[in-house]
Parts: sequence; C-alpha cells; structure tokens
Amino acid sequence: MSRGLVTRRKLAWLGVAIAMAAAGAFTFRSAVWDGLRSLVQTTDRREADVIFVTTPPAVVRAMLQVAKVGPDDLVLDLGSGDGRIPITAARDFGARGIGVEIDPALIEEARENAGRAGVADRVRFLQEDLFETDISEATVVTLYLLPPLNLKLRPRLFNHLKPGSRVVSHAFDMGDWQPDQELTVEGRKVYLWVIPPDARGRY
Ligand SMILES: C[S@@+](CC[C@H](N)C(=O)[O-])C[C@H]1O[C@@H](n2cnc3c(N)ncnc32)[C@H](O)[C@@H]1O
Repeated sequence: MSRGLVTRRKLAWLGVAIAMAAAGAFTFRSAVWDGLRSLVQTTDRREADVIFVTTPPAVVRAMLQVAKVGPDDLVLDLGSGDGRIPITAARDFGARGIGVEIDPALIEEARENAGRAGVADRVRFLQEDLFETDISEATVVTLYLLPPLNLKLRPRLFNHLKPGSRVVSHAFDMGDWQPDQELTVEGRKVYLWVIPPDARGRY
C-alpha cells in the first residue's frame, strides 16, 4: 500500500532547500519544487499480505511430487520467501523456477540460495506483487499464503493459466473449488488442483 509520508526530516529538507535558494545556491523555483516533491513522496513498497514462514523441506518435495514436476515445467512460487520451492524444483526435479516476492531482502537471500544450490541459470526471482505478476507462462503454481489470499487469487489462476496447469497449496484450500488431490505430510495439508479445459471465466 502506498503511503504519503510527511516526516520531520522532509520538513527540514524543505527548509534547507528554501534557505539554499535564498542564498543563491540554485533557483528558488527548483528548490521549492524539490522540497514539495519530497513532502508528497510515496514509498513504492507495497506491504506484504502475509509474513514469511517457511514450508518444511519434506513438504516442499511433496508439493512438487504431487504436481508431477519435471524438466518441461515452469514452477512459479507466489510469495517465494527464501526461494526454497523454485530452487528445489530446479535442483531436484529439473524444472525452471520463478519466485515472486515483495520483500527485497528475501529476493536477495533467494538469489544467494539459488547460486549456492547451483541453479542460478534456471531460477529467477522477481520483486513484484503476487496479485499483479504475469502467471500465464507457469505450468505449476505453488502457494503458501492464507485462505483469503488463495480465494482472491482464484480468478487469476482460472483466467490466466493454461488448462492442465497445476496449482499446489501448502496448508490452505480454495473454498468451494474442490482439490483433485489432498495429502498430509508431517502434519501439514497439501492441496493439488488441475486447471480444467473450460476454466476461463469460471470464477
Ligand atoms: C508464508 S511465506 C511462504 C514462503 C515460501 N513460499 C515457502 O513456502 O517457504 C509468504 C511469503 O509471501 C510474501 N508476500 C506477502 N505478500 C506478498 C505480495 N503481495 N506479493 C509478493 N509476495 C508477498 C511474504 O513476504 C512471504 O515471504
């Protein structure tokens, strides 16, 4: 969410800018403009919809296995945290992976992890909002979010994924969209849905 920020620091900057202009350091017009612009500057960082909590390795493997991930797949993890799902998909299942994550520190960590795992050439991490990112090329979408976020995503999954694409969620279901498969791993629920042929516009 963008927020207008008016801080004491910015007010001080406005004062400095006006003072510098008065002293002839640069024109009054540009000084006031810079000061005003900093007053209304917004953060370009949307807040996370859910905090970072990791999926245990055995559950990551089960998610990728139940989706039958292989070398032809592009696995897209929406809210990718430290990158473990796309990295495992590339390292252990031969797939390509994309992680979409809003937190830049986690993006950096995920890129380092991909390098350490030797899959940096097959995994990408995008600092984007998972509700806006392009999901159309993915053949497998993985989620560990929250129930309302899964429901909010459902129309995008139906409208943008190709029929036969798989959606796997750790812990949370999709309301009245019945899963094709459901399993429990180390006490955690894993749900699998396959996008049907007539999906577009159904939700
Ligand atoms: C519960 S963690 C799951 C991490 C990883 N997928 C896993 O299973 O280990 C959810 C992640 O989603 C990220 N996130 C939350 N809201 C987001 C948004 N709107 N766009 C992109 N990422 C978001 C959080 O920063 C967090 O890293």
